[in-house]
Amino acid sequence: MSVVVLIGAQWGDEGKGKITDFLAEKADVVVRYQGGNNAGHTVVVDGVEFRLHLIPSGILYPSKLCLIGNGVVIDPAVLIAELENLAKKNINTENLRISHRAHIIFPYHQRLDLYEEERKGARKIGTTCRGIGPAYMDKAARTGIRVADLIDPEEFPVRLEYALQEKNKLLNQVYGAEGFAYEEILAAYSKYAKILEPYVADVSLIINEAIAKGAHILFEGAQGTLLDLDHGTYPYVTSSHPVAGAACLGAGFGPTKINRVIGVAKAYITRVGEGPFPTELKDDIGEQIRTRGHEFGTTTGRPRRCGWFDGVVARYAARINGLDYLAITKLDVLSGLENVKVCTAYRYRGELITEFPATLKALAECEPVYEELPGWLEDISEIRRYEDLPANAKNYLERLAELARVPVAMISVGPSREQTIVRQNVF
Ligand code: GDP
Ligand code: IMO
Ligand code: MG
Repeated sequence: MSVVVLIGAQWGDEGKGKITDFLAEKADVVVRYQGGNNAGHTVVVDGVEFRLHLIPSGILYPSKLCLIGNGVVIDPAVLIAELENLAKKNINTENLRISHRAHIIFPYHQRLDLYEEERKGARKIGTTCRGIGPAYMDKAARTGIRVADLIDPEEFPVRLEYALQEKNKLLNQVYGAEGFAYEEILAAYSKYAKILEPYVADVSLIINEAIAKGAHILFEGAQGTLLDLDHGTYPYVTSSHPVAGAACLGAGFGPTKINRVIGVAKAYITRVGEGPFPTELKDDIGEQIRTRGHEFGTTTGRPRRCGWFDGVVARYAARINGLDYLAITKLDVLSGLENVKVCTAYRYRGELITEFPATLKALAECEPVYEELPGWLEDISEIRRYEDLPANAKNYLERLAELARVPVAMISVGPSREQTIVRQNVF
């Protein structure tokens, strides 16, 4: 039996979907436990690209049980579109189950996300405008509507009416905008409820029963450690907890059951949206990495900001998540560079610091200290064994592991399932 939690060790888009899909071959159950359709996880199987936002990346294997935990916020229209798209590609989705405790995203959440960003002006976060923050706000305020309420024809109209009264007031009085028509939302969401009802289940119970039976369970994080509401670069973060510890909370099982935690990190680093980013490259090399790595958002299409691998971030992610192993992705993207740099520490007010600072003010004053390593010119995308990698690529990986103080279990050299080098089995 193994319970493995896989998380993003940077600012998201590390390739969690690809690594989840790869590891899912050996898993019985794959679970999403936080975030919503702000996530975009791309998986490539036999040349076909799948972009998943809410459904766990294990869905591409017909026999895996895929679960959406209570910690996820669900936009039903997006989930239904995702189910339909998978069906069009002949993917069986019968094995999906959705927690009745997960919260629902409504059109007013998206609208409020957008207006709040506009109101912030230069201080905007650069959210995905999918209504994620406002939906988690309602959850914390104890006014949210959950899956169990949505599928209850008596409860739903009452809860919606109350919620809408409040939200329309907010839209009118604070933002000077028009509100939403109750009947329209009621009709649309009642339809969604009928479609989704067969998938609704007690996800926590399913997980705990699977653990008791000795199943292999893989938890698929969304976003990344530095976007965590508590541990990320607050306030430039998301409104959920992408860190490993949140798997227990967002799926309903105990921390004693976790056997291993895997951190996925790119061989460099990217960020979408606003907020500090010490190793950001605003030069030709940054542009080259963006082009070669196709660094444009899966969800919003925005260009991702690119920079050198940050060892301070990696060590921080190892600490916050208790990482056992790293999975390093996109190593192929760095091929062809004569030299590669890694950040080993920050210089802050004349002193070297090796721990990630807590405030944006301090982070803004941090200058990365780089070490330059020789690059490799070879195309490595067809390599399948660690020994066959160019010596400089191996040296580079060893340096990353040293900086993070975590061994590298997997290396990804391309988007496809088979473009993966395994050094250590995690199941
Ligand atoms: P996620 O959000 O962490 O699942 O990552 P995304 O899917 O948003 O972004 C990662 C992108 O890189 C996707 O387009 C993947 O298909 C692609 N990708 C993943 N691993 C590799 C790799 O090793 N090499 C290359 N070239 N692309 C990769
Ligand atoms: P995956 O799972 C990268 C970023 C947004 C913004 C901030 C807050 O694909 O790695 P939100 O809409 O969540 O309120 O936006 O978080 N963000 C992501 N960046 N990958 C993601 O998901 C992200 N999900 C949110 O760009 O900066
Ligand atoms: Mg993504």
